[in-house]
Amino acid sequence: MSELGASCLSGRGVTKVFGIGKTVTVAVDHVDFDFREGQIISIVGESGSGKTTFSKMLLGLISMTEGEISFQGKPRVLKTCAQKRKYWKDIQAIFQDPFASYNSFRKVDSVLLDCINMRDGKALPQKKKEEMMTEACSFVNLKYEELTNKYPFELSGGQMQRLMIARIFLLKPKILLADEPTSMVDACSRATILDMLLKLRSEVNMTIIFITHDIGLAYYVSDQVYIMEHGKFVERGNAENVILHPQAEYTKRLISDVPKIYGNWDLTTV
Ligand SMILES: Nc1ncnc2c1ncn2[C@@H]1O[C@H](COP(=O)(O)OP(=O)(O)O)[C@@H](O)[C@H]1O
Ligand SMILES: [Mg+2]
Repeated sequence: MSELGASCLSGRGVTKVFGIGKTVTVAVDHVDFDFREGQIISIVGESGSGKTTFSKMLLGLISMTEGEISFQGKPRVLKTCAQKRKYWKDIQAIFQDPFASYNSFRKVDSVLLDCINMRDGKALPQKKKEEMMTEACSFVNLKYEELTNKYPFELSGGQMQRLMIARIFLLKPKILLADEPTSMVDACSRATILDMLLKLRSEVNMTIIFITHDIGLAYYVSDQVYIMEHGKFVERGNAENVILHPQAEYTKRLISDVPKIYGNWDLTTV
């Protein structure tokens, strides 16, 4: 992916400080970033480095202590409910635990129906809605007929996470933020989920922000990587450059901790 795509989401001096007095934690410390349309950007860092706090500020779920964020080149303003609702049509998230973000007393097919209704499809005939839900399910290798009338606890973690991606397929936000989406699923679902993300990018030109502690996964999926340590981006750039020729000591350490082989690349020999 070229670096020349239009700016999708960018920020300057973005900072989050929790607490007051002696118990202050600077979770995100004056970070600058520029995410381009249609790119997959990974934010990589160990637990506690500030990834989730950063992603919550991108989503507008928590306020910034300092700094500014621009969306599509214009300052992002989220003061009113209407501004937030509009922004949340453009940015959606999937989280580590798919069950936590879903009401367990609702049947799983209603989650897909809600997405169609949210995208102004309320008035569509039932048959058309079913076609759209079937298409979204097959996008993530699920069978719509097998999901109807089921409750979340009747699905595996991997199936549930794929359902969350089917939701994204229907909502078609401009940006998808995926915070450790594969860390609670089996290896087979993990591979499917990563491939789904690549497919969303290539078929819908979605900008995907992939949050992970696993630099090997980042290498597999991303165009750009941002390496986060103690709330700061210590290294950033084209994924191949950064991972094959790391400069920062922290990046080198993350790479040396990777025990596995990804595709044809053995990261342990880098
Ligand atoms: N609501 C909060 N209140 C106080 N400290 C927090 C809060 N959320 C996160 N932190 C702290 O901010 C730092 C970064 O946490 P987090 O963003 O969750 O990192 P990561 O997602 O990389 O594991 C940690 O030191 C964490 O304890
Ligand atoms: Mg986190």
